[in-house]
Amino acid sequence: MRGMDSVIATRLQSDVPLVSQVSQYIIAAGGKRLRPALLLLMCGALGYRGEQRFNMAAVVEFIHTATLLHDDVVDESTLRRGRATANEAFGNPASVLVGDFLYSRAFQMMVDAADMRIMQTLAEATNVIAEGEVLQLMNMHNASLTQEDYLLVIRSKTAKLFEASARLAALLAKSPVAIEKCCADYGQALGTAFQVIDDVLDYDGDVQVMGKNLGDDLREGKATLPLIIAMQRGSPQECSVIREAIETGGTASMAKIIGIVEKTGALTATRDAAAAEAQRALDALQNLPGNVFSDALRLLASQLLGRRS
Ligand code: IPE
Ligand code: IPE
Ligand code: MG
Ligand code: MG
Repeated sequence: MRGMDSVIATRLQSDVPLVSQVSQYIIAAGGKRLRPALLLLMCGALGYRGEQRFNMAAVVEFIHTATLLHDDVVDESTLRRGRATANEAFGNPASVLVGDFLYSRAFQMMVDAADMRIMQTLAEATNVIAEGEVLQLMNMHNASLTQEDYLLVIRSKTAKLFEASARLAALLAKSPVAIEKCCADYGQALGTAFQVIDDVLDYDGDVQVMGKNLGDDLREGKATLPLIIAMQRGSPQECSVIREAIETGGTASMAKIIGIVEKTGALTATRDAAAAEAQRALDALQNLPGNVFSDALRLLASQLLGRRS
């Protein structure tokens, strides 16, 4: 992780002061660095120790950071990593443009790797993430969203980068196709579980621990899994409270909706759905070499379910 951090510090530099200022602002705030950790652990599991792993770990963190800069603009979010979002601190134009800088810096770095499969993987991931965010935009205020619609969005906007991070490790290690597929499956399942838990925490989290505001999804009229399940299980009257909140947005009925989500067991059922994905991640690891790194990847999948931040 230190190797990746030093690549990040070097490659963040720009002669344009605002670029460095905004990108430092969000990157120095920390974040869990989960996608690089996944890539580096997977490299360890597969026995790859080359320097290129630090560059690729930095690339996935840059892509992730670019998506956050853009996402906080479209979601009109004000808090991220325990501080004002970049859009709040510097405005929407600076956030969008510095997000573009980070994307394109990531692309410069992946070209340096001079491996067509690596470029393919990251180009596809970036494209699918954008599709996922647009799909979600189209789904806003749609109270008839199904579990399948929801799954397609989160697989695209979130799981795809986890999948790419894990696949990159296999590409760096020049692993056989079957192993590459196990890695990709692990990343996809882990990323899906990660987003499902994130959607629980939007109702059931602690703002201090998470470093971002609760209730953002409801305010935006976003039908995430807790609400979809609550509508399947609630009385017609409870359903219509949720339906109206999704259709109109806003948090006026937040307390009522939290009550319904809890009473119908929707939060527990959503956590169960995350657990099923985490199990799928564990299953995918079965054909990987057994070592301290694959043990850590196993721990990651099981402990993810209890995350609070
Ligand atoms: C936030 O990702 C965006 C989602 C996919 C939910 P993280 O929770 O990994 O964000 P940081 O990098 O740790 O802040
Ligand atoms: C994050 O989606 C996914 C991407 C940034 C592509 P969300 O909007 O659900 O995540 P948070 O809650 O802002 O971190
Ligand atoms: Mg958001
Ligand atoms: Mg969003």
